[in-house]
Amino acid sequence: METFDRTFPDGFLWGAATASYQIEGATTEDGRGRSIWDTFSAVPGKVAGGDTGEVACDHYHRVPEDVALMRDLGLDAYRFSIAWPRILPDGTGTPNPAGLAFYDRLVDELRGAGIRPVVTLYHWDLPQALDDRGGWLSRDVAGWFTDYAAVVVDALGDRVTHWTTLNEPWCSSVLSYSIGAHAPGHEDPLEGLVAAHHLMLAHGTAVPVIRDRCAGAEVSITLNPTQVWGPDDGDELDADAVRRADNVFNGLFFGPIFHGAYPDGMLDDTAHLTDHAFIRDGDLATISAPLDTLGVNNYFPTRVRAARDGEDGRNPMPGCDGVVETAPRPPLTAMGWEQSPESHRLILERSARESGLPLYITENGSAWDDTVSDDGRVHDPERVAYLHDHLGAVADAIDHGVDVRGYFAWSLLDNFEWAYGYGKRFGIVHVDYDTQVRTVKDSGLEYARIIAAHRAGRAPEPAARS
Ligand code: FCB
Repeated sequence: METFDRTFPDGFLWGAATASYQIEGATTEDGRGRSIWDTFSAVPGKVAGGDTGEVACDHYHRVPEDVALMRDLGLDAYRFSIAWPRILPDGTGTPNPAGLAFYDRLVDELRGAGIRPVVTLYHWDLPQALDDRGGWLSRDVAGWFTDYAAVVVDALGDRVTHWTTLNEPWCSSVLSYSIGAHAPGHEDPLEGLVAAHHLMLAHGTAVPVIRDRCAGAEVSITLNPTQVWGPDDGDELDADAVRRADNVFNGLFFGPIFHGAYPDGMLDDTAHLTDHAFIRDGDLATISAPLDTLGVNNYFPTRVRAARDGEDGRNPMPGCDGVVETAPRPPLTAMGWEQSPESHRLILERSARESGLPLYITENGSAWDDTVSDDGRVHDPERVAYLHDHLGAVADAIDHGVDVRGYFAWSLLDNFEWAYGYGKRFGIVHVDYDTQVRTVKDSGLEYARIIAAHRAGRAPEPAARS
């Protein structure tokens, strides 16, 4: 095994992340309402293998076991999300005590194990009842989300101080409403833009409410910015394709949230779709509410070029007609995602510049075709290498002056990988979905070793060859 010997600043937080719909299961228990992912995954063809989150990792029934696993790995922090439909089965109205009690138990269990809870309020499982009322296309969602946030913060805010409003609003807007790959599966360029605006409005409306209700709250949002590269020998048209793509992937959120304005050119690029009347006076001031930290999820860079004469350049993303995504460059992960530690460092540097905030890497990791070997272990050298390379990029970013406060491996457990179902395994812990047996992979053991060395105040020593 290659070795890893970088050091990180004192107080650097070592964590792992999950999300409610991907691990909890128990989708019909204890009064949980339906979510858009229950609906979407029930539609044939939307999720590989017809998989659903009905059972997932059965985490809902295995909190003590899973928290013990985290303690054994030596995690400082655990990032998880709250299922809105467990708390408010209809999206609004009277909270469901059993739903709140589940997260109460989880938070207490974590704190008992000395693990800091880092809570995301929305990781994509919108109550179906709210989608029926327009979902993220309805401006009312800002109020619905803020009321939900208040309920959760009131219940947990005496023990939780790390609050993240949204996970990857790019996915819950462009990917879900324009590209159609995620719930609710719409395919309309304009809808992605409207949903993004309402997501950000919901975020900005909730931020002061979280602060009011939780003394010492550290309030954050998690974005998934990506380094956009054009061809090596690109011309002006390619540069414009990079600009448009960068606006939709990055500027769409960096702009309103950190600069109080949509990025240069974006409103012009989408003027054929809308008069932008959904952006009302005062919205950008609400959206740019001050934050304490920024969460960055990053896995891979994006490559684009301009469509050439006669080529079909239609692109479902708003303002991106004429932008063609080009093939990722090897080495690729089992997702077909390009591995580029350099792009990871660059996006951390950009995120710090845009936001002016300390960063947490709230997700980073890789999928591989893992199996349990005859020796009972899961040997995943590719994931170990990806971890080393990307932690190395984080250390490089820190050396370049970026204030990175922590790293959360995606994911603690193999889980329901959205449209890919259970076929793609991201865990540092393997899950046998027939028996629900958890097996720490070699990458999990290596992560634990790196954490232990860091805690002891030294660089990890070269690992024994395995
Ligand atoms: C991110 C999601 C997370 C997981 C990883 C692989 O986009 O936030 O839930 O699916 O990708």
